[in-house]
Order: sequence, then structure tokens, then C-alpha cells
Amino acid sequence: MSAKQFTARAGANIALVKYWGKRNARLNLPAAGSLSITLANLETTTTVVRNPALRSDELVLNGRSQDAGRVTGVLDLMRVRAGRDGFCRVESHNSFPTAAGLASSASGFAALVVAAAAAFDLTLSPARLSELARRGSGSAARSIFGGFVEMSAGEREDGSDAVARPLLEAAGWPLEVVVAVTDSSPKAVDSRRGMNHTMATSPYYPAWVDGVAADVDVARKAVAGRDFESLAEVSEYSALKMHASMLAARPGLIYWNGATLSCMHAVRELRAAGTGVFFTIDAGPQIKAVCLPGQGRQVAAKLRSIDGVQRVLTSSLGQGARLVPET
Ligand code: PMV
Repeated sequence: MSAKQFTARAGANIALVKYWGKRNARLNLPAAGSLSITLANLETTTTVVRNPALRSDELVLNGRSQDAGRVTGVLDLMRVRAGRDGFCRVESHNSFPTAAGLASSASGFAALVVAAAAAFDLTLSPARLSELARRGSGSAARSIFGGFVEMSAGEREDGSDAVARPLLEAAGWPLEVVVAVTDSSPKAVDSRRGMNHTMATSPYYPAWVDGVAADVDVARKAVAGRDFESLAEVSEYSALKMHASMLAARPGLIYWNGATLSCMHAVRELRAAGTGVFFTIDAGPQIKAVCLPGQGRQVAAKLRSIDGVQRVLTSSLGQGARLVPET
């Protein structure tokens, strides 16, 4: 009899108040909280099957075999929790470019823990799934939930309180997201290395970390009150402060290209002219424009017209990570 397989799906998420820096590298504990939105149209679908014949875990990402090291790290935690051994074959597909600043690790690890929990017959609360996803990638803790999500830095040494929680479901404030892809090749410095380098060398890093909790408070209130202006202001502030800390590292990390900057100016011009839109940027050159309901189409047309923008993806807000029926 062939082994039973389990498939889960999770959306990428975009932080509006950013996570950049750790208080514990081994447990992947964030130095501060963060706040994000989960996307419906940028998804990872992951199938996990336990196979006693395997001598190590196998990872196939978008049809190609990959090093399974980070996946094995998370699966080991699940094997310990379940009190079961057995290696797994993990097959994962992204509906968007991998490793290009579009947070594929977030949706990837969130889908992985949900599918693997089922494969190991573990019943885990969303908070425990979030904790496990965090061990794969800090931002993945947030993709367990849909809509608007807050990640807590936590205080405990074991990291059990460094988990995400849902703030508002997607339908509660159906913002739209436009992603302008300005370079779809894998980034030169991934977020893990970029974060470590910023922590070790940037004189602005302590100031960055000190301000995050206050920014999360403002953003949480803006979400609760559907205050777009306040959310726009604090989100751009957080993204630019994070990039300032990276730019001040030694040597400085420059994730932007010319088109990234042109898009930032275009978004600000649109907002000054009355369109409900703001930008955010992660550890890559893509621009994520967050728009009031109904304004995404106009923003997408504008960003598409900018020199250097290769393509534009649009998304609504989506649900959290979930199992999908096997076909
Ligand atoms: O989850 P990681 O380790 O890939 O780090 C994510 C870092 C940013 O995307 C730049 C910010 C964030 O909060 O998602």
C-alpha cells in the first residue's frame, strides 16, 4: 500500500511593520514584533508523505530537487513531538517567483508544518503551528493566519510565546495588493544573512529595534479602526527605517534598483493625488503597493507603465494555512 499523502496550502504574507533582527538565532526568535497581511493569490502548495524507505528527507521545489536542510530542521521538531521517526518526501509549488523578495519561505514553511502535522498525526493549535513555522522562517509564523496578523516577539527563553495571532479576517477590510516585480532573479543576500549582517555591523540597528513595538501599536490601532492614512504612514515609516538600518551596515545592503525607487515615487504621487495606496519593500527590489478596496487596478496600471517593471501581480487578502483535500 502506498503511504498516505497530505497537502496544505498557505499564502505569502507582507509585513507592514517589519521583522528584521533576532533575539535568539538558534530558536529563530525575533528581536521585536511585526504586523502583516496574508495574500490570497501568492501561494505555496506543499505535499508531505512519510516514506520508510527514505534515508533522509527529500525536497522538490517547483519540480527541482533541492537541499532539504532547513526543511529537515522543522521536520525533526515534528518527529520529536510526534514520537515517531520516518523521513519525508516534500513536494512544493509556488504560484509566484521563488526567493525574489516575495516571501516564498513564509508560505513555504507555513504550508509545510500544516501538511507535516497531518502526516505525523499531530493535532496542534494554530499557535503551536505558528511556533513551528517560525523555526523555519520568522515570517512563516504569520502565514498560519489569514487577513491581518500580529507576530509577538515573546519574552520566554524557549520561544513558546513568540507566535503570531490573527487581528482581523481578510473580509473585515479587503485591501488590495499590487506587487511590481523589478527583478525576478534570486537575491544576492538572503534575509537570514542580511539580518545577521545588519545586527553585527549597523549602528542604526539598536534604534530600529527600539522603535518597532510603538509602530506595531500604531498599526494595530489603524487596522482596528480601518484608518488607512495612519496605516500608510506607519507602514512606509517601518519599511524605510528597516532599509535605513540595512544601508548603514558595513558594507551597506542595497536591495533596491532604479525601478524600485521610481515605483516609490509613483506611489507617493498617486497618494498625494488622492489614491488610497502606500508602498512597502522587503529584502529585495520588488515594490508591494497596498491599496484601498477598488483602487488596485489603477495602481497596477501606473506601476506597469514604469521603466524597469517586468511584471505586476495583484492579490486580495487571503486565508491562513490549511489542508486541502487529496484529489
Ligand atoms: O522570515 P525571513 O527570515 O525570511 O525574514 C523576513 C524579513 C522581511 O521580509 C524583510 C520582513 C518581514 O517581516 O517579512
